[in-house]
Amino acid sequence: SEDDMAIQSISKIRAIRFSNYEIETWYTAPYPEEYNRRSILYICEYCLKYMPSGYVNWRHQLKCPAQHPPGDEIYRAGNVSIFEVDGRKNPMYCQYLCLLAKLFLGSKTLYYDVEPFLFYIMTESDERGCHFVGYFSKEKLNTSSYNVSCILTLPIHQRKGYGNFLISFSYLLTRTEGKLGTPEKPLSDLGLLSYRNYWKQTLCYQLRDLFLDSSTTSVSISQLAHRTGMTCDDVVCGLEGLNALVQDPQTQTYGIRVDRALIESTIAKWEDKGYIKLEPDKLVWTPLV
Ligand code: ACO
Ligand code: ZN
Repeated sequence: SEDDMAIQSISKIRAIRFSNYEIETWYTAPYPEEYNRRSILYICEYCLKYMPSGYVNWRHQLKCPAQHPPGDEIYRAGNVSIFEVDGRKNPMYCQYLCLLAKLFLGSKTLYYDVEPFLFYIMTESDERGCHFVGYFSKEKLNTSSYNVSCILTLPIHQRKGYGNFLISFSYLLTRTEGKLGTPEKPLSDLGLLSYRNYWKQTLCYQLRDLFLDSSTTSVSISQLAHRTGMTCDDVVCGLEGLNALVQDPQTQTYGIRVDRALIESTIAKWEDKGYIKLEPDKLVWTPLV
């Protein structure tokens, strides 16, 4: 009945216990009602199963065999790995993941129909296991140019460059497929900030590399798109972020203005942060055909 639905939609979950962290939630997620009645939800950091109490969680930890996500480890560099998980082969893990993500995503996302998606899970390992940091999902059969459906860095790990790493990884897959890609719209505010920053930084590196070679005198938007895997619209957005798109007052056509000093200083500022960098040659992956 309508009353039942009203009750169901009220969630009391205010935080999750994840490993040794307590993480405040941002939005509600459609957990079964008896779980939504709890103020704290316990989530296993390895298999992502949700549990109603510390006791159940303690029992689970004694017997949970998982020390890393399911699926194939397709990237490893140092202690950072990426696992590719197929929604068809590991539906429970992927449903748990989507519910967890929904706690930090305002827009509607899928929860149960995970089959058409692949999930890319980023972990950091130590002697105990591979610890979940963030992930993105991607549609298997892509008729559109979307290369990311949903992306998340757990709040305890945000603003440390991991989102940027996940975004670069998504474009690495797209370039390996020989395609151009863009994230699914609408983007959240945080998604937009992160993507704008990524597009800008990426174009800085591209323009620096191109014009390092003094024989290069011009570059087109579509050339930049093919070198980066970004769509032309997103290249334009990145160039705007660098004030590099200028309109000729006479011909009304656009040109790319390369301000070397700005490019160098933007790169230097970014590198100073010491964020983890993607090593493309560490990818072991062939696209689905
Ligand atoms: N405020 C201002 N700038 C930001 C912010 C922020 N909160 N977050 C990212 N940026 C920009 C900054 O330029 C940042 O660099 P800086 O921190 O050195 O200033 C840069 O992006 C890179 O940030 P990362 O640390 O790499 O990003 P993070 O790991 O925090 O992940 C993400 C970004 C995934 C969007 C995260 O905020 C998140 O999970 N949010 C909740 C879920 C969400 O909104 N996902 C996107 C939905 S859209 C979609 O899925 C297609
Ligand atoms: Zn578990």
